[in-house]
Amino acid sequence: MEQARTHGSAPAASWSDVWAIDLEIREIVKWLNDGDRVLDVGCGNGYSAVQFAARKRVSVRGIDYIPALIEEARARSVRLGGKLAGAVDFETGDITALTEPTDAYDRVVAVRVIINLGDWETQRSALLACGRVTKPGGLLLLSDATLQGWNKLNEFRAEWRLPPIPMPAFNSYLDEAQILETLAPALTLVEVANFSSTYFVGTRVLKPLLIQALGTDVNVADPNLHWNRWFAELPSFGDYGTQKLFVFRKR
Ligand SMILES: C[S@@+](CC[C@H](N)C(=O)[O-])C[C@H]1O[C@@H](n2cnc3c(N)ncnc32)[C@H](O)[C@@H]1O
Repeated sequence: MEQARTHGSAPAASWSDVWAIDLEIREIVKWLNDGDRVLDVGCGNGYSAVQFAARKRVSVRGIDYIPALIEEARARSVRLGGKLAGAVDFETGDITALTEPTDAYDRVVAVRVIINLGDWETQRSALLACGRVTKPGGLLLLSDATLQGWNKLNEFRAEWRLPPIPMPAFNSYLDEAQILETLAPALTLVEVANFSSTYFVGTRVLKPLLIQALGTDVNVADPNLHWNRWFAELPSFGDYGTQKLFVFRKR
């Protein structure tokens, strides 16, 4: 919430790493088709939702449980007007008590929201709710941090004597096996896209190592550097990104 107040309508309102967000949006957009009806649950200030509608001819409904973020999202779509008119709408709503109709959306996007829900039981029922509102044949696009991705990144860091990156106190990263097991009865896993792997190695392993080795005062957490931008342009290899996109198709 504090982050939302500080950054307002900027992408950084939901995550300070703008290049990671850009990678995430590019990955999700690959799975959208013109004409899709998209639900973006936990849409925050609408930055990503508007990007989806700007990059593909889709209609997007964004919901978030913080009214101030929904107001910000609506203001954003009004400001953009023209091309997006009628393509996006935003409503206050709670993913843990989703009132959207069953089998309604071609694409359901849940970006960095499930990890905020605290305990696994709440996360589990939110995942099931996302599956419920996805149309048969449609896709659930879940982009979130996993324990496995986080551990692999920290193992890479440990090899070079870098301390582990802690999990933020307000997050509960997801266990990949639990995600799959929960959704398996109604949805089939199509792909796990490790879109952040190369970027995280570049910015969470190589960059801090170089700063340490050279003793420079470059801010390791500053994403607004050519270093970050360049790594965000490289194809992603390996399984060293905390953030992954899970693509599920509803049967
Ligand atoms: C890290 S932000 C991600 C925002 C957005 N998906 C994006 O890509 O920028 C997480 C969002 O989830 C929302 N959120 C947390 N719990 C929620 C809930 N129970 N129902 C709906 N939204 C929720 C927060 O308000 C916040 O906007």
